[in-house]
Amino acid sequence: MSDISALFKGVIFDLDGVIVHTDTLHYKAWKSVADRLSIPFDEEVNDRLRGVSRGESLEIILEQSKRRYDGAQKERLCTEKNGIYVDSLASLSALDVAAEVSDTLKLLKGAGLKLAVGSSSKNAKTILSRIGLADFFDAVSDGTNIQRTKPDPEVFLKAAAMIGLKPSECAVVEDAAAGIEAAINGGFTAIAIGGAAASNGARFNIKSLSELQKIILK
Ligand code: BG6
Ligand code: MG
Repeated sequence: MSDISALFKGVIFDLDGVIVHTDTLHYKAWKSVADRLSIPFDEEVNDRLRGVSRGESLEIILEQSKRRYDGAQKERLCTEKNGIYVDSLASLSALDVAAEVSDTLKLLKGAGLKLAVGSSSKNAKTILSRIGLADFFDAVSDGTNIQRTKPDPEVFLKAAAMIGLKPSECAVVEDAAAGIEAAINGGFTAIAIGGAAASNGARFNIKSLSELQKIILK
């Protein structure tokens, strides 16, 4: 533990759109499915998909559809989207993590904070591995260990338990409105990054991860 004192003992990071730009890959994959089905889909609808599960994302997209889909058809559409998405992850590498992101992560870790991932994605571990951060975080709580998606706080509560901290001891960094709500619901300090998560009751709003330094470290 270094002698730098911090406001928190731990930080839980959302993955897609916070650590790495996979939010744009989710968008492209859903866009390709929506275009094939002639369902209107744009960045505004996409912002509502941030932080929510694959199945719930599809439900939001289908709100704009004239036809109805049964359970089996929805399952196939989720599989189709995930196939396109996973293919697009193949080219990800450590180069996709911005320098200010990796510098900030290293700085916080060096200051003795526990760092965890709290992501709704079932592909989180694949992504962490591709970007060279598989062993960096103290814990990963993701779509494979939760029953309820954000804005339910489950994914963050599990992450906090994995690093042995109480919600009041952790900050959560999120780019999704649903993620900010989840953090607040769970009793965490919410830090919003980017436009989609702003104005949703977060204690802090930042534009880039490097701003965490002045919020978290004293
Ligand atoms: C979240 C994304 O991190 O993961 C959502 O913000 C996505 O857009 C969700 O729907 C689930 O991801 P996956 O990889 O399990 O389909
Ligand atoms: Mg996100």
